[in-house]
Amino acid sequence: MEKTQRPRVINQIKRLRGMDDILPEDVLLWQQIEIMAWELFTQAGYHEVRTPVLEDTELFERGVGTETDIVNKEMYSFEKGEHRYTMRPEGTAGVVRAFIENGMSRWPKPVKLFYKGPMFRYERPQAGRRRQFHQMGLEIFGLDSPAADAESIYLAMKLFEQLELPNLSLEINNIGDPESREVFRQNFRAFIEPSLSKLCETCNRRYESNPFRMLDCKVPECKAIYDGDAVSGFLAQEWTSEASQNHFLDLIDILDELGIPWERNYRLVRGLDYYTNTVFEITSTNLGAQNAVCGGGRYDRLVEDLGGPPTPATGWALGMERLVSLLDMKVETPVEYYIINDHPSAAMQVADVIRQLGKIVEVDLSGKAFGKQFAVADKRKAKYAVILGEEEITQNKVTLKDLATGDQSVMPLPSFWEYLEALSIVEEAGLEAEEEG
Ligand code: HAM
Repeated sequence: MEKTQRPRVINQIKRLRGMDDILPEDVLLWQQIEIMAWELFTQAGYHEVRTPVLEDTELFERGVGTETDIVNKEMYSFEKGEHRYTMRPEGTAGVVRAFIENGMSRWPKPVKLFYKGPMFRYERPQAGRRRQFHQMGLEIFGLDSPAADAESIYLAMKLFEQLELPNLSLEINNIGDPESREVFRQNFRAFIEPSLSKLCETCNRRYESNPFRMLDCKVPECKAIYDGDAVSGFLAQEWTSEASQNHFLDLIDILDELGIPWERNYRLVRGLDYYTNTVFEITSTNLGAQNAVCGGGRYDRLVEDLGGPPTPATGWALGMERLVSLLDMKVETPVEYYIINDHPSAAMQVADVIRQLGKIVEVDLSGKAFGKQFAVADKRKAKYAVILGEEEITQNKVTLKDLATGDQSVMPLPSFWEYLEALSIVEEAGLEAEEEG
């Protein structure tokens, strides 16, 4: 008896948890946002910088801080030979390293940079919280003025306004300079000590090492205590120095003059240890639990802490996935001309000329019968078919078919070029009238 052959089961390899494929129609939207941001930032005198995805682990330990969740539990790190490597969990530390390493501190100040790219954090994945996600950020080096904080916030808001992001709020806080944080630390320890038994193990550890970071705890029981009236009252007392308070007051004056509404959030400490004075987050109620679309602040000591000359700095980063999820927009690039042919090289040359008018032109590469090629043109929802058969090629002409009306005309190539140019002028005029109307 013949044995029936069992089909071979091949395990399909899946993408890693918390990491996403960005598919073509979404990529178009991402690109539009990136172009809009690129124009806005370059017009404001910022320059794009691209730094490696992989950095020395110590950069983030020293930069972001060993007591932060990011460094403590979320970094993708590995060893190779003698070295410890980390997939960047954020962009600022790498940009600061590049600033120091490339002697940018000797450039005319301020040095204004922006960047975009993937970041990696080993977090519990959920909507808006991914293990690979993308940030776009900007940083200003060499200015300690409140106006620098204000411009960075203004540009983020401007971008969001252009994109018509819904229901945004700006939460802002002043966490002071390191000296005033020491005063806060001592007072907060004394204040919170009676509650220690009700707080989690991490908070108890942070009580010793970095009490400030306790306020960033996500454990519900701890959060309830920090959100309570007693802690709120404690935090609302100004612990910061006079200079730091003045910086904050000047900043919010500028924001008011710019018509940017803000709200003081005394519990806002941010998840990174490098901040001094200003910290802020831009949130949207349309986002759910992970509601911050953008976060940043001032970090006047980081350049020095990473081995550079004392250089005040400020900046922010936005999360692209969260931003895109706020947009109800689809970008499409439908095929306008589909070239039906039995002579691919001639078809590619004709396509090239039509593309010079800015049109999207696809050449049929199948070599199949024209009926089948027309079926693909229909599926692509092409506006026109350009037919280049044997007869057209020998007589140096094309057949143009309007696929919506079925109208068809045969034209010598020179008249076809003239016709296309005239058509695109009419189409452009139509578009402009639509935009104005
Ligand atoms: P961050 O608040 O950690 O700040 O991240 C900035 C933004 O990245 C967040 O507001 C959020 O939109 C997005 N984001 C963060 N983690 C995730 C995640 N797991 N999944 C999806 N999106 C996420 C920074 O990284 C600082 N480097 C910002 C900065 C620049 N401060 C000064 N300069």
